[in-house]
Amino acid sequence: MTGLPLAIARGIDTLLDRTVAPGFTRIGPAVRSRLPGWPADPAPDALVGAVAAVTGATSGLGVATALGLARLGAQVRLVVRDTAKGERVRSEIASRVPGADLRVDRCDVADLDDVRRFAGGIGLDRLDVLVHNAGAMPPDRTESPQAHEMTMALHVLGPVLMTDLLCPALAAAGARGSRVVLVTSGGMYGQRLRADDPEYLLGEYSPTTAYARSKRAQVELLPVLVRRWGADRIGVDATHPGWADTPGVETSLPTFHKLTGPFLRDAEGGAETTVWLAGTRPAETGRLWHDRRPRPTHLLRKTRTGDPERELMWEWTLAQTGLGPSQRPSP
Ligand SMILES: NC(=O)c1ccc[n+]([C@@H]2O[C@H](COP(=O)([O-])OP(=O)(O)OC[C@H]3O[C@@H](n4cnc5c(N)ncnc54)[C@H](OP(=O)(O)O)[C@@H]3O)[C@@H](O)[C@H]2O)c1
Repeated sequence: MTGLPLAIARGIDTLLDRTVAPGFTRIGPAVRSRLPGWPADPAPDALVGAVAAVTGATSGLGVATALGLARLGAQVRLVVRDTAKGERVRSEIASRVPGADLRVDRCDVADLDDVRRFAGGIGLDRLDVLVHNAGAMPPDRTESPQAHEMTMALHVLGPVLMTDLLCPALAAAGARGSRVVLVTSGGMYGQRLRADDPEYLLGEYSPTTAYARSKRAQVELLPVLVRRWGADRIGVDATHPGWADTPGVETSLPTFHKLTGPFLRDAEGGAETTVWLAGTRPAETGRLWHDRRPRPTHLLRKTRTGDPERELMWEWTLAQTGLGPSQRPSP
């Protein structure tokens, strides 16, 4: 397909995206990577000398992300809530990437006190890449140790607090600046931001809705996060992996997993754009990426959000995390 005119190639890429199912499955990258204009791979040594941290690095996409970052030469911090599992993953990656520098750090990302303990104790002089990959879809409404709805605590509050506390290390990254990546989900396309009910107290709880609302919140907060951290050359983006075959999908969505099984990406396919983004760190930031391209944040009119609702969500996030309105002291 390399002889195709670029405009037609981009048209095929966009069609795969808007029709959802073909683009989200393994068909998406199989076609896109053969089209002209497919963005180049990172250099094989792109992250030599860099430090990267990946949350939820004990399963599925987290393991694949850590593996990909180690292959590019980064020191990788496996941020996990179960250190025995983390050590097993460390050995597995070490056997596949000889010489890799891998460390296991404990943190329950949904527990804001534990995030503070972790950030205060990790002792990093620099942090070039921070991937917020840890994720879950509890079957029933569950609360975090600070009594926040679990998906919102795990996907929004914990990552925002962790990033903010690690800002000095992120700001001390190399000349290319650092990159924070929130691993969101295409499921967020079906939900609008619910700044009026961030704790999911209204209506009947649905695991997929709660999950998608928290993933929507990650994407809606991108402009606010870029504004907060951008002056320190900290880029912030979201990636959505499409549909990948992981223990999380098999457990949380068994019927979906059975029906789509042969078409799902493997975990490395799901983590591919996160690793690519970390390795290339494009100048453009504050975007939602999938298969190496920025994608729209809304596909449906009903999910569109205005700045007031986004600011309301941000004020709630600041209040729950105890962060001040400005990362830098006012002049
Ligand atoms: N797979 C897909 O198709 C897909 C699609 C869209 C989005 N995603 C997103 O991609 C990310 C990875 O998903 P996955 O499919 O690889 O899921 P997975 O196999 O269930 O892995 C989830 C990881 O998150 C960790 N985790 C869960 N709660 C945590 C907590 N409180 N603190 C720290 N770590 C915690 C888990 O640790 P334990 O091992 O200790 O449980 C595990 O390492 C998630 O954010 C998910 O929402 C995945």
